[in-house]
Amino acid sequence: MTVRRANALNALNADVLVQLEDALERLSNDQTVRAVLLTGEGDKAFIAGADIPEFLEAGPAEALLIAGRIKRVIDAIVRLPKPVVAVVNGYCFGGGFEVALACDLRIACKQAQFGLPEIKLGIMPGGGGTVRLTKLAGGSVARMMAMTGDSISAERAHQFGLVASLHESGEALMDAAMLLAGRLALQPPIALAQLKSALQIAADADTETACQAELKAFALCFSTADKREGVSAFLEKRKPVFKGA
Ligand code: COA
Repeated sequence: MTVRRANALNALNADVLVQLEDALERLSNDQTVRAVLLTGEGDKAFIAGADIPEFLEAGPAEALLIAGRIKRVIDAIVRLPKPVVAVVNGYCFGGGFEVALACDLRIACKQAQFGLPEIKLGIMPGGGGTVRLTKLAGGSVARMMAMTGDSISAERAHQFGLVASLHESGEALMDAAMLLAGRLALQPPIALAQLKSALQIAADADTETACQAELKAFALCFSTADKREGVSAFLEKRKPVFKGA
């Protein structure tokens, strides 16, 4: 999935957000899709944030509409029962960073930059940025980034655990992304979907609730043909072939 609006550094206007939402629905319904990569067109930006011109005449009601469109995309990524990897190929700011934070994994090129610059526009994040950044990197990092609005390098984002791996830009990043997607696509889809859901609950719920959810997901995996295939393959010393059943 590629955000195609390079002339505005892939900023998320209403059109782009509707297209992303539609694409995510198609990917969710397509049983042949086992992993999703999200990136931005061109070599400068992943997504440079929400569309700033849309803010100029907007009041609180319009702000809710704009944030609602971004939230629908973010919710669709979180709900998608398949892993989503943000392939951060450049500027990853504001709403773009919020979208990336909602993905299951983030990989980036070494030139990428991450930031929540909303405060510099007289506003603040509205797409879950303060929440997910606090959960992923801690309150100090979230405060430092959101309160100053300053961006951080890909290397810092890697140190903070926000980015799983760093790569040279261009082809090297896309090669790494395809390799990762290929590995994820070979995993058992039902177990992977259960795992995604359990990890989400682990981030949001109290320990006992999350452990109960994990237990149910674990048990559900035992109803699948892929469990039999995985365990048999181990015992027979061969590679498993998972079919999503
Ligand atoms: N919304 C709409 N358009 C945007 C945009 C955004 N968030 N970010 C960049 N653009 C547009 C610019 O207006 C410019 O358009 P133009 O060529 O018609 O003038 C084009 O993308 C290229 O941006 P430019 O600023 O010239 O590139 P740069 O390399 O000098 O700077 C950034 C890149 C990302 C540092 C700078 O564009 C920026 O600060 N963007 C805003 C980031 C932001 O605040 N995001 C959060 C929004 S809530």
